[in-house]
Amino acid sequence: MLVAQLSSFGRPESVIEIVAQGDPGEPGADEVTIDTEFVPINPADILNLEGKYGAAPPQLPMIPGAEGVGRITRVGSAVRHLKPGDRVLLPGPGCWRERFKAPGKVVFALPEGVDPKQLAMLRVNPPTAYLMLHQIVAPKPGQWVIQNAANSGVGHCLIRLARLAGLKTVNVVRREELVNRLREFGGDVVLTDGRDLDARVRSAIGEAALPLAIDAVGGSGTQRLARCVSDGGTVVNYGMLSREPCMVDGRDTVFRDVRLQGFWLRKWFVDTPPAQIAAVYRDLASKLADGTLAVEVEAVYPIRKIKEAVAHAARGGRSGKILISFAKD
Ligand SMILES: NC(=O)c1ccc[n+]([C@@H]2O[C@H](COP(=O)([O-])OP(=O)(O)OC[C@H]3O[C@@H](n4cnc5c(N)ncnc54)[C@H](OP(=O)(O)O)[C@@H]3O)[C@@H](O)[C@H]2O)c1
Repeated sequence: MLVAQLSSFGRPESVIEIVAQGDPGEPGADEVTIDTEFVPINPADILNLEGKYGAAPPQLPMIPGAEGVGRITRVGSAVRHLKPGDRVLLPGPGCWRERFKAPGKVVFALPEGVDPKQLAMLRVNPPTAYLMLHQIVAPKPGQWVIQNAANSGVGHCLIRLARLAGLKTVNVVRREELVNRLREFGGDVVLTDGRDLDARVRSAIGEAALPLAIDAVGGSGTQRLARCVSDGGTVVNYGMLSREPCMVDGRDTVFRDVRLQGFWLRKWFVDTPPAQIAAVYRDLASKLADGTLAVEVEAVYPIRKIKEAVAHAARGGRSGKILISFAKD
């Protein structure tokens, strides 16, 4: 089977290689085997390839990839809840591989009739948006939430989940051409980032309560959101797209009681009982199925074009995600 692997850190398209590995073989009694269909390339994958992901550096060689979707090929004799042909989320990490053998208990069947490319992006971004919206500050219906990098995968999920909860969104992007597109997608207010962001936000929403800001950018981007939230508001930082440490001015933290808090999905996986995690995914999968959640895909590359795929994913200005297909061609 083919895997995409790195043996050193560096430029993403230089360090990623296709390698043939032995097939994982027959499943044991409690195991299943899975053939991968699609995996997305996320910003965290790019940081991992560069050796710049915030967590402890991984052991090399390493197979990247935190998520994806595939079909069950074989089930062990003791596995009752799955059958060959069922579509499942891949048991990451290390998802950029053609085939898996995994314990049956970590895998559950996904609804049929849903675009597998959307399902490939279910594991990371939708729960990130959901949890940041509901489990940190829990704004009340009618209140506003502001986010930057609003045209990202997380940003799209957040727009739709906020609307469902009766919240209104201010969406900050860095390209003017995205403004109409994100309004059509459901963003209530869409603004380009800039020094006077807080003034433009207040002229759009007046004195309405804005208790929560969601920051993927860091650096001075964090500060621009901190300036926008109401007194006592919270800025949740979950990304480092600018590659700069978060900046927050004492005029906001000291005199306006604005807080800065981090969010990391992996911690939720560790801290949360499996049944609760499964319930969140069932709910989010149903929102993919009914079209509430949808993330644009800019391109799908076959696995043998992994170098072009990671170079494309690392570029800004995309209209959607880059996926890798493991279909035989
Ligand atoms: N903490 C967690 O648990 C967690 C979980 C999921 C995702 N994340 C993070 O969430 C962020 C978004 O991930 P995603 O998969 O949704 O992204 P994505 O769909 O791949 O989109 C990337 C986005 O980042 C924007 N961007 C890139 N560099 C930027 C910069 N310097 N300043 C402002 N915007 C910039 C892009 O804007 P353009 O279109 O203008 O290029 C685009 O909107 C990433 O930082 C990712 O690591 C964190």
